[in-house]
Amino acid sequence: MDTAGVAVIGSGLIGRSWAMVFAAGGFKVKLYDIEQQQLTSALENIRKQIKELEKTGFLKGDLSAEQQLSLISICTDLKAAVEGATFIQECTPEDLELKKKIFGQLDLIVDDNVILSSSTSCLLPSKLFTGLKHVKQCIVSHPVNPPYFVPLVEIVPHPETDPSAVERTYALMKKIGQSPVKLNREVEGFVLNRLQYAVISEAWRLVDFLTAAVVQMLVWNLWLIFCLQIHVNQEKNKNHSSSTALPARLIVWMKHSQQKRAFVDFADVVHRSCVAMSGENTFTERMVLVLVTRMLVCNPNAV
Ligand SMILES: NC(=O)c1ccc[n+]([C@@H]2O[C@H](COP(=O)([O-])OP(=O)(O)OC[C@H]3O[C@@H](n4cnc5c(N)ncnc54)[C@H](O)[C@@H]3O)[C@@H](O)[C@H]2O)c1
Repeated sequence: MDTAGVAVIGSGLIGRSWAMVFAAGGFKVKLYDIEQQQLTSALENIRKQIKELEKTGFLKGDLSAEQQLSLISICTDLKAAVEGATFIQECTPEDLELKKKIFGQLDLIVDDNVILSSSTSCLLPSKLFTGLKHVKQCIVSHPVNPPYFVPLVEIVPHPETDPSAVERTYALMKKIGQSPVKLNREVEGFVLNRLQYAVISEAWRLVDFLTAAVVQMLVWNLWLIFCLQIHVNQEKNKNHSSSTALPARLIVWMKHSQQKRAFVDFADVVHRSCVAMSGENTFTERMVLVLVTRMLVCNPNAV
């Protein structure tokens, strides 16, 4: 068990899931919200989910369900929530002014060692954090819903974020079993959503010609993009050029990966069952395709 604490601000869909991820990683979690009712139902929901996950053998981490549950507490006092925390994950609604207000409040009560991290899906760090006293400790850790099941986390720094804050966030995400991807700098929409929307739009356009082959091609393309992203990151970390090693490794990986077959088969099955269910080119079919592509884009662990 880790003695360090984490505070999760906002106990909605994403806050609950982050609380479970941190507890699975052995961290004490204080879940804060302005709504007591929201906190009570969050805790009930977390208890139910964790128990169910243990029963079905899908509980993350080395601790039992009861041990993980004992690490999570709820709180409606912001100061008490962040006391002892070394990492704060904000999960309030996607509203720039609201988030700025919350980070402004946090800025007044945290010390120089805490990381202030936002779950925002698309608000730029420079819009969220500029002007804060602790701006060097501020970062976006953009999860995919739900972070408990989809491990990809985009780590997006503010232009003034200290590199050590990026490294600490990255290391923490690794430690709790997530798959963090570091962005060098902020960019509108971050990377994941931009890639997703590009692929989804193309899938949408292609659906009129949809065959299993198109689905399979999509799957392969997505893998390629994410393999590249992950390998480029790994290569960079090793501090040597990736220009020749990367394609060679990619080909080797493609040849030997067992998982690719499972996913291609899965996409095929999904495609065939929705055709059987509702005929070609229906809305359902489009939605299933979007869902499959989204799942693949968001799951670097699949590679
Ligand atoms: N839902 C998704 O698919 C998804 C995916 C990735 C990132 N995100 C991001 O995560 C964040 C949270 O999204 P969500 O879907 O969990 O929202 P949600 O509406 O489910 O939860 C928001 C929670 O914040 C609480 N809240 C409101 N004002 C507050 C305040 N001043 N202080 C503390 N808590 C407050 C609410 O009571 C609620 O419990 C957003 O920034 C969103 O863009 C969401």
